[in-house]
Amino acid sequence: MSVAPAPAPVALELRELVKHYVSGSETVRAVDGVSLEIAAGELVALFGPSGSGKSTLLMMAAAVLRPDRGSVLVRGRNVSELSEREAADYRMHELGFVRQSVDLLGGATALDNAAMKLLGTGTGVRKARREMAPLLEALGLGSRLAHRPDQLSMGERQRVMIARALSTGPSVLLADEPTGSLDSHRKHETLGLLRDVTKDRAIGTLLVTHDAQAAGYADRVFTLEDGVLHDRLPQDAPTPR
Ligand SMILES: Nc1ncnc2c1ncn2[C@@H]1O[C@H](COP(=O)(O)OP(=O)(O)OP(=O)(O)O)[C@@H](O)[C@H]1O
Ligand SMILES: [Mg+2]
Repeated sequence: MSVAPAPAPVALELRELVKHYVSGSETVRAVDGVSLEIAAGELVALFGPSGSGKSTLLMMAAAVLRPDRGSVLVRGRNVSELSEREAADYRMHELGFVRQSVDLLGGATALDNAAMKLLGTGTGVRKARREMAPLLEALGLGSRLAHRPDQLSMGERQRVMIARALSTGPSVLLADEPTGSLDSHRKHETLGLLRDVTKDRAIGTLLVTHDAQAAGYADRVFTLEDGVLHDRLPQDAPTPR
């Protein structure tokens, strides 16, 4: 008698999420009843036109924005009703969040920039540097540890951001257009990297992207349109290679 392998645990669950923005007399329904489960070790790519609600969705998953309705569960824990302090704690210890814009300190080295989040957890400088160096090496930045951001390419800066996001061993990784400013070669490199860390570290990864290439690296692909989630590629997208 064969026993089926246990399914991977759910890392991130979005349940019936709804978010409106009210400005003046106008109400925008930015996210309109989105439900999605991402397993540990699974990379999900989320496409969608500008204004379709992708960043709003990520910010709710990051407990930066509180949903009007629905909930966000991380390894079964509801993180959508946390106090500010608890939410900050969740982002620090359980979440990696790579925002679209590169957010590095100009005067600090790649190593110290990557170590910044670990320092925020109370880890000492020397220990944080010791822990980050191998991670940066694994991300192909071994020869760039002492470089400042202005001495790094865009792709390298993005990888420093990814290293920082991974530094505290998160169970969920959110990435908002992490390949937006990269050329095609670097895009493939970064996408491959995200796929590998997702598998190797059993992270549940939600990748927001406009790159059709990303579909080739994802386990599943969704499109958000007017705040509604569809389990397919955007209709106008070129066939991914
Ligand atoms: N703070 C805000 N106040 C009012 N409306 C907002 C606010 N933030 C976003 N919106 C609106 O909500 C909708 C969704 O915005 P969101 O930023 O989530 O889209 P997006 O899919 O990330 O777009 P992009 O691909 O351009 O980054 C848009 O119509 C946007 O104009
Ligand atoms: Mg956005």
